[in-house]
Amino acid sequence: MERIGDIKLDKSNNKYLYLQLFEEIKRLIESNNIEPHTKLPTIRYLANKLGVNNSTIVNAYNQLETEGYIYKKIGSGTFVQDIRSKEVNKLILDEETSMNLDSLNLFLDMKKEEKIINFASTAPMPDLFPIDDFKIVLNEVLDRDKGRAFTYQESQGYLDLRKAISNYLSGFNIKANENNIHIISGAQQGIDILSKALIEYGSVVFTENPTYTGAIAVFKSRSARIVEIPINKDGIDLIDLEYKLRSLKPKFIYVMPNFQNPTGYSYTVAKMKKLIELAVKHNFYIIEDDYLSDLHLFNQPKNTLKSLDTVDKVIYIKSFSKIFMPGLRLAFMIIPQTIYSEVLSAKHISDISTSGLIQRAFHLYLEKGIWQKHIERMSTVYSERYNTIIKSIKKYMPKQVKYTLPQGGLNFWFSLPSSYSANELYKLCLKNGITIAPGSLFDIWQRDTKYFRLSIASVHKDEIDFGIAKLSQIINFFLKNYQKDNITIDLYNNLF
Ligand SMILES: Cc1ncc(COP(=O)(O)O)c(C=O)c1O
Repeated sequence: MERIGDIKLDKSNNKYLYLQLFEEIKRLIESNNIEPHTKLPTIRYLANKLGVNNSTIVNAYNQLETEGYIYKKIGSGTFVQDIRSKEVNKLILDEETSMNLDSLNLFLDMKKEEKIINFASTAPMPDLFPIDDFKIVLNEVLDRDKGRAFTYQESQGYLDLRKAISNYLSGFNIKANENNIHIISGAQQGIDILSKALIEYGSVVFTENPTYTGAIAVFKSRSARIVEIPINKDGIDLIDLEYKLRSLKPKFIYVMPNFQNPTGYSYTVAKMKKLIELAVKHNFYIIEDDYLSDLHLFNQPKNTLKSLDTVDKVIYIKSFSKIFMPGLRLAFMIIPQTIYSEVLSAKHISDISTSGLIQRAFHLYLEKGIWQKHIERMSTVYSERYNTIIKSIKKYMPKQVKYTLPQGGLNFWFSLPSSYSANELYKLCLKNGITIAPGSLFDIWQRDTKYFRLSIASVHKDEIDFGIAKLSQIINFFLKNYQKDNITIDLYNNLF
């Protein structure tokens, strides 16, 4: 078996030494010569052994980290990633957006009429889309604006829509005028253009871990150095955050304070305030991804970080995908004055502007109050599903499976006992016509974990009880037959 200590670098070769080292270690990991979670040699040791500068090792390790081959634990060292979970991720296609059920059927060799129960996707179902109402506002825009609806729109967004959003936000205690609001083509684009505007090669970015897959992919694509901050039931782990802030200077932290994806947990107001205090003290921005705060089901106040931000440190992103129609590609951001021009230019470079027709139609939709009606309908449908799944979970879920139920939202987060793999459970469920989202999808380093997420966005109310009963049966079977010795890492200790 080859080892890192046996690697030889060729100083006469034109290729940078750090790239040679990166490729050699990558090859050893891919060919299973190094076990997942093995600790790598320290920088100084390896530099001495190979007769190169420390910076060669640092650059090679950074490249490996960016491409997901290794992960760093502050205070403990650098470890080899479990890249086997990448295979599972390929199967899942894009679980957040839309499960491609046709190809899953092919994969499963199931009969077309056998329906998969989809607890994995967070995309709303098309039968909830308000097509007739949207047709009315679209036609009205076409009659009113004619060709103007199809000209280039200003990059920041259609002014009347920005004004209407500013008005709408006052109901959420968020003060933002039309000059701070930027219309974007979905929250995903918001994360991407913010990264374009703020991240340079190697910039440090903090995120909750586990977190939203699409954000991890963006930060990696910009070669950011991602540092994980654990999340607890009441929000981000402030002790860990303060500890890491002693030695690292992040450009920003990316968080979801309401119904965090995937855990469903929400921050307490005290934690929100403290996070803003830390952003001022250590001079970083907070990106608040508010993809779901509209779905508080128990009439609590809808607190957002932005509503508490008096210091202009919070970059607020609001998507309409989960509560409206994801294919519209419509969202907005509230941008601090200090980064206004960088963000505007990144948006312009990206797609010039979000569709003017859709912006104008959505403006009318808000102005006519149809939006409010739609939100009320969605809340009713989702509270019915929420109440049903809670009952079914309590009734059927095996006792060994742990969970903390959220106060609303779409996502429910579970833990198998230690030494069980959620990737394996995912495969077993898939063979039996149920999809779940395994925790590896949301881990920054795609490590296999004992966690999995269920979502109620893509299941009908009357499928839920049967689905959870069947899933519980599968889990009971799984717990008896699928124990593994090699799931040794117990990630996210304080989650439940
Ligand atoms: C937390 C979170 N943020 C952003 C997005 C992307 O949203 P959009 O469709 O607005 O691009 C998703 C989609 O799943 C999400 O879960």
